Amino acid sequence: MARLAGVLRLVGTEAVETFDDPVVRRGMETVEVLITGWSCPPLTAEVLDATPRLRAVMHAAGSVKAHVCPEVFARGVVVSSAADANAEPVVDFTLAVITLAGKRAFGLARQYAAGRYAPFAQRIGNDGRVVGVVGASRIGRRVIARLRAAGYQVLVADPYLDRARAAELGAELTDLNELCRRSDVVTLHAPQLPETHHLIDERRLALLRDGALVVNTARGSVVDTDALTRACASGRIDACLDVTDPEPLPAGHPLFGMPNVWITPHLAGVQGTEVRRLGEFAVAEVERFVAGEPLRGAVRADQLGQLA
Ligand SMILES: NC(=O)c1ccc[n+]([C@@H]2O[C@H](COP(=O)([O-])OP(=O)(O)OC[C@H]3O[C@@H](n4cnc5c(N)ncnc54)[C@H](O)[C@@H]3O)[C@@H](O)[C@H]2O)c1
Repeated sequence: MARLAGVLRLVGTEAVETFDDPVVRRGMETVEVLITGWSCPPLTAEVLDATPRLRAVMHAAGSVKAHVCPEVFARGVVVSSAADANAEPVVDFTLAVITLAGKRAFGLARQYAAGRYAPFAQRIGNDGRVVGVVGASRIGRRVIARLRAAGYQVLVADPYLDRARAAELGAELTDLNELCRRSDVVTLHAPQLPETHHLIDERRLALLRDGALVVNTARGSVVDTDALTRACASGRIDACLDVTDPEPLPAGHPLFGMPNVWITPHLAGVQGTEVRRLGEFAVAEVERFVAGEPLRGAVRADQLGQLA
């Protein structure tokens, strides 16, 4: 608030939860910069009519799709997302999960608790493992960099990426089927789009090597949950899922009971203490906007069809 007040005149200091309140409406007439968050109601044409001076929307969260309608862009309003600030914790989480799963840590911890102490188990370890990254998104690109730094061989599949750019990132571009065939770990970082619905389906799960691991921190619908459930139930592959379809996964779902499946409740992105990163990003973006500097999280209308 103090930093914002240094560059803007604040209209109130409380977060508003609706644009329908008459008091809020009166304030909106003068608003030029709007800072939005996860639960912001959609900025419809009607809301835009009530904010005739609006010039910028700074979203202190990741995806802007549910909040800004095409009309926002059509009216020349600048839109920025803090998705970059949300990316780093997901990257950390992904690397941690891949590392621990390579050590068979999840299963061996359960066995240990059940009285079976098995140090120096065979066929564990991360050296020489091949990781397939699905989606060179902002998270996917960072994951590739961190995997390379950790010594993994990395494959990447992304229809918007060419071979040269993949090589610059440190990965080998393959098509998705080849990636499934050659990877010890398949980690998903593609956005939820009509084209990515069930991208990992029964057929692609069948291409995976025995003992392969599927990591999903992207969106549940990128994987066919029923097909994944069958594949994991057979014991042929393992899964670490931070997101599921449906989400939340109903209590008693078979995936919850499987020793080779580890599920977390959508916590890879910013949580708790990390939420400040989003505010920090949005405030810095406002400062850049006021200073006439380029925005770091600018979102264009023509990008929405391929962004998270
Ligand atoms: N688990 C969490 O808490 C959490 C937090 C943040 C983001 N996410 C999810 O992580 C994923 C990545 O987020 P992001 O912000 O890095 O995404 P992003 O907006 O940067 O992704 C866009 C990129 O994805 C790639 N892409 C588009 N279509 C593709 C396709 N058909 N196949 C493969 N790649 C494709 C393209 O490179 C495109 O530029 C999204 O699914 C997002 O919803 C999850």
